[in-house]
Amino acid sequence: MNKGNKLYEGKAKIIYETKDQNLVIQHFKDDATAFNNLKKANVEGKGVLNNRISEFILNNLSQCGIKTHLVKRLNMREQLIRKAEIFPIEFIVRNIATGSLTKRLGIPEGTLLDKPLLEYCYKKDELNDPLISKEHIFSFGWASEDEINKIDKITLRINDLLTGIFRAVGIKLVDFKIEYGKAWNKDTEEKEIVLADEISPDTCRLWDMKTEKKLDKDRFRKDLGNIIQAYQEVARRLGIMPEETNISEVNFGKTIPIKFKKK
Ligand code: TMP
Ligand code: ASP
Repeated sequence: MNKGNKLYEGKAKIIYETKDQNLVIQHFKDDATAFNNLKKANVEGKGVLNNRISEFILNNLSQCGIKTHLVKRLNMREQLIRKAEIFPIEFIVRNIATGSLTKRLGIPEGTLLDKPLLEYCYKKDELNDPLISKEHIFSFGWASEDEINKIDKITLRINDLLTGIFRAVGIKLVDFKIEYGKAWNKDTEEKEIVLADEISPDTCRLWDMKTEKKLDKDRFRKDLGNIIQAYQEVARRLGIMPEETNISEVNFGKTIPIKFKKK
């Protein structure tokens, strides 16, 4: 599939058009940003890892009946995806209190929440993606009540599935952010809601079950170092990287060349 014009460039990804008006190419960059672009760096290999991790997760979700935008991974940095009209909303799910929840409401760090907490943020960089209520979403027509009811159900199911995927490899899913869009379904000839964007250590908080070591973008946000090693550790545990690439507690600090299993 040949790449056409650039349609959109975000902080971590670029979208290119293809000859098919319903399909686009999603390219994963190595750029890392935090605090709405205030902090920036190039983290070599991050794009390659997020491409593989997100492909693995979305394929797993798809096998469990979740509709996603992913068609297939094309190469080390690119995926063919369905073109989707993205809802201007970030859907956040929290299982354990940390991050902005603890700052905003003073909830003690690490508090186990009785049930998953759903939050909505308005996707608007100029405003720092502010927290919003469902009433804002309906008032300003960012999504309909019916769409949000459907999305809430899918989001909670995704939380259950992701929690299981990560628990199986000794990782706690603390919280995550997902996005949805509406994409054309050529069989039904209607638009349908699909999970879009990516699910990766950039968009989740992942803690090692035993040590609570952070295996996600908080290593960048909080200057903890070993960012790429943490992402590699997630890939290795999910079985995406070959077993011989053994990043254990002992060699956690070393840089390990990225090698992947053939499909
Ligand atoms: P927060 O605690 O900073 O609000 O983050 C909640 C979750 O959302 C966390 O898993 C990180 C993720 N996230 C993003 O993916 N993109 C963002 O821009 C922000 C602020 C958070
Ligand atoms: N993605 C956001 C930014 O670029 C923030 C974050 O992930 O913490 O600034």
